[in-house]
Amino acid sequence: MKTTFGPKKIMFPCPTSLVVTGNMENANIVTIAWVSLLTSQPPTLGISVGQKGFSGEAIKKNKEFTVNIATIEIMKQADFCGITSGKDIDKFKESGLTKMPSKHIQSPIIKECPLNFECKLVDSGIVGRTNHFVGEILEVHIDTDKLKDPENYGSIDIDAFNPLIYIGGVREYRKVGEKVGDAYQIGKTLKK
Ligand SMILES: Cc1cc2nc3c(=O)[nH]c(=O)nc-3n(C[C@H](O)[C@H](O)[C@H](O)COP(=O)(O)O)c2cc1C
Repeated sequence: MKTTFGPKKIMFPCPTSLVVTGNMENANIVTIAWVSLLTSQPPTLGISVGQKGFSGEAIKKNKEFTVNIATIEIMKQADFCGITSGKDIDKFKESGLTKMPSKHIQSPIIKECPLNFECKLVDSGIVGRTNHFVGEILEVHIDTDKLKDPENYGSIDIDAFNPLIYIGGVREYRKVGEKVGDAYQIGKTLKK
């Protein structure tokens, strides 16, 4: 049996991402779970950012941001950045997370996050009460110790990475489980 609830927002799992705005001198971090790759050529990603906080205005003003994927190791810091505002505090200072310069934009990346995207704002809009920002990925940084083959960005060692997964609805953090199959392969067993 199924039951219905009308239009509700619930989705899982989501990567817990930390979006950084500003520059090396003056930067802010916001926790964003509503993040997704959008296109491959050029590579873009989209983020949903509420209009009430500090970060939406900062992205509109600077037209750039970085997206940094959090790990279990920085769970407390990631949560902290989602319950505090850059309007009130310096989140880099208070959380202890470390800024590192980006290659192509002013907004820094976060050292403690093993995967970082430098993004240039290429599109934006408001749906309901939420900003939707499309960022073109200008650069990707990956910690080499999180790669099985340091020459291949696609060889992420997900166990070593240990991403912090957010489960919407119950509002829990989880870690990824074990591998259960090979994508784009296992379905072939049903092909006639
Ligand atoms: C796990 C988690 C996920 C969140 N995801 C989002 C999100 O996808 N979009 C959003 O606008 N706010 C999200 N938030 C809330 C913001 O991080 C929060 O409003 C923050 O205080 C805004 O900071 P700022 O004012 O410095 O921009 C999330 C918070 C947490 C704890």
